[in-house]
Amino acid sequence: PLSDIFYINITENKLSQRLPNALIIGIGKGGTRAALVSISRHPMVRACSREVHFFDHQENYQLGLDWYQNQMPLSLKNHITIEKTPAYFITEDAPRLVYKMSPSVKLLVAVRDPTVRAISDYAQLYEKSHGELRPFEEYVTRDSQHQVLETRRSMVTSGIYVKHLKKWMEYFPLEQIHFINGKELVKNTVHEMQSVENFLGLEPFIDETLYYFNETKGFPCLVPAPQMNGEQPDSGCLSEAKGRPHPLVDEDVVTLLRDFYRPFNEEFYSAVGKNYGWP
Ligand code: A3P
Repeated sequence: PLSDIFYINITENKLSQRLPNALIIGIGKGGTRAALVSISRHPMVRACSREVHFFDHQENYQLGLDWYQNQMPLSLKNHITIEKTPAYFITEDAPRLVYKMSPSVKLLVAVRDPTVRAISDYAQLYEKSHGELRPFEEYVTRDSQHQVLETRRSMVTSGIYVKHLKKWMEYFPLEQIHFINGKELVKNTVHEMQSVENFLGLEPFIDETLYYFNETKGFPCLVPAPQMNGEQPDSGCLSEAKGRPHPLVDEDVVTLLRDFYRPFNEEFYSAVGKNYGWP
C-alpha cells in the first residue's frame, strides 16, 4: 500500500549521522577553513565544524568508524557530509585508511604557494608559542648563515605537495581530487567556490550575493544570516587566526625556499595538469 511506500521513504531518508562523502584533506594554511565554511552555506551540505583528526591520530582511528560517524552532523541521504582535517594530506597512511572507509569519497585540497604556506604556518606556530619561537630564518635553516634549509622540518616538507599527492594517487584517481587555488579563493571567491560546488555535484547555489569584502578584515566574508532573536549578527568573517600578518622574512631565505620548492612545484603542475605559477 501507498502508506508503506511513504513509511519506507521517510525512514530511509531520516536525519542521521553519516560517514562523510567528501573530505577537505589539506593543505594546512591553504585556505581549508574558508573553503569549508563557504561550502557549508550550500543547503545540501552538512559540514563537521571541528577537525576530527580521525585518519591521522591513531588514538582516534582505533575508536573505529562508528565513532567517526558519531562525530558527524545530522544529514539526510542526499546531503553531502563533509569533514576537514588538513593534516590528512601529509599523513603517510591516511590515503589507505580513507580508501578503506570509502573508495568513492571526494577529496578536496586547497593549495597555496608553498613558500608563503611555510611562512603562514610559522606565523601560526609563533602565535601558539606566545612569541617564544626563534625567528623564521633560524627555524627553517640548519646553519647560522641561514644558507642550508632544514629539509626535515614539517614546516618545510609539508610544502612538497607532489610527494604527498603521489601517496593519494596510489588509491584515488585524479578525477576524484579537486584542487582549490588558495590565492583565488581570496581574490575570486565565488568562482573558486563554484568549482567546488560543481565538483561535488551540487546544484548551483553559490553566487556573489553570499559574500562581501570586509575592509577591516581585509578578506571576503560571508554575508551574515539574519539573527532571529534581534541580536547583532556577527561579521561573517573567519576568526582572527585566519589572515594573520606574516613576519617579514629575509629575502635570501625566501629565495632558498623558492629554489627548494621549484622542482617539486613543476612536478606537481605536471601531475595535476595545471601551472599555478608559484614564483
Ligand atoms: P594566512 O593566515 O596566512 O593569511 P587554513 O584555514 O587552511 O589554515 O588557511 C588559512 C588561510 O586561509 C589564511 O592564511 C588566509 O590567507 C586564507 N583565507 C582564504 N580565504 C579567507 C577568508 N575569507 N578569510 C580569512 N582567511 C582566508
